[in-house]
Amino acid sequence: NDLCKVIYVVSQGNSTKIIILQDNLYFDSYSDVTIHEEMIADHVRTNTYRMGILRNSESIRGKVVLDVGAGTGVLSIFCVQAGAKKVYAVEACSIAEQAVKIVKQNKMEDRIEVIRGTVETVDLPETVDVIVSEWMGYALLHESMLNSVLYARDKWLKPGGLILPSEAELYIAPVSDPVVEDRLHFWYTVKDQYGIDMSCMSDFARKCIMNSDITVNSVTVEDVLSHPARFARVDLYSVTAEELQSVKGQFTCECFGSASVNAFCVWFTVTFPSPDKPPLVLSTSPFKPETHWKQAVLYLDEPADVYCDLILCFITIFLVLNYLLVCGCKVS
Ligand SMILES: C[S@@+](CC[C@H](N)C(=O)[O-])C[C@H]1O[C@@H](n2cnc3c(N)ncnc32)[C@H](O)[C@@H]1O
Repeated sequence: NDLCKVIYVVSQGNSTKIIILQDNLYFDSYSDVTIHEEMIADHVRTNTYRMGILRNSESIRGKVVLDVGAGTGVLSIFCVQAGAKKVYAVEACSIAEQAVKIVKQNKMEDRIEVIRGTVETVDLPETVDVIVSEWMGYALLHESMLNSVLYARDKWLKPGGLILPSEAELYIAPVSDPVVEDRLHFWYTVKDQYGIDMSCMSDFARKCIMNSDITVNSVTVEDVLSHPARFARVDLYSVTAEELQSVKGQFTCECFGSASVNAFCVWFTVTFPSPDKPPLVLSTSPFKPETHWKQAVLYLDEPADVYCDLILCFITIFLVLNYLLVCGCKVS
């Protein structure tokens, strides 16, 4: 079945087994125009990829590129603009049909070959010099297709080849989210409006709101209570699928002032190497212009009061797929 997504790579002794789970829903979402519209309209995302590819034209000119999860083919076209000799645009879902039309409309059929199928199952006629992919999910790894990029790297990239982007970093900061407090307080206001005391709903509301695994929200800078702390880094040249199953990191945050922390905000950056220039960073920080990834918000079961210069120390464990656990909190 070519509508599958590789989820787990399991190693036992010397053998590595890839368990492929059907994920038709995942690919269905990419068959619709809405998600591609959102991604291409995200100027920060699309333009940073464009600049990241064009700035590497020295390494791309005359070379063979693999675009993992090509979607509409936008990154493949940037690679041709950067001088690529040939681009294999691999796309699992039916948006590949639109990519074929877009490639034709831009008269690049001789350079871009759109291949419908998962990167885990397609057969390319040659190995490649460059891999380009936009694989990041919410909070970087949430439902991410990074495993597919690593699979392509290990199977199709020539030794010493280039991966764009080449590095990812995860950041975290405590926040005081007033919207949640307003939602909890709402249940205390019902009595004034309708004469029914519903304040006992507040505990239930807290459980419902705080229990969701990851909430995607635009975090307001004023609600962030410390400088960002980097807690994990992923090197795309060396990271393995096994390592991605549990990305761990430690961090400390020094609070700016007195407030009530009710959540943590997590975001990521990815970096493109830039010969002769500082590396180009695509950032989803709340301190930078908004992207469609916004930020991931993880609510605490109970708010905690913090004050200026208070240091929060945590151990974090990031489990791939759905869950980000913040544990081992120490306040000093
Ligand atoms: C985040 S979108 C990026 C699309 C396009 N590259 C862009 O930048 O606009 C990821 C695309 O990868 C495709 N995809 C995900 N996993 C894949 C896999 N294992 N093999 C081939 N395509 C895959 C999805 O269907 C989706 O169209």
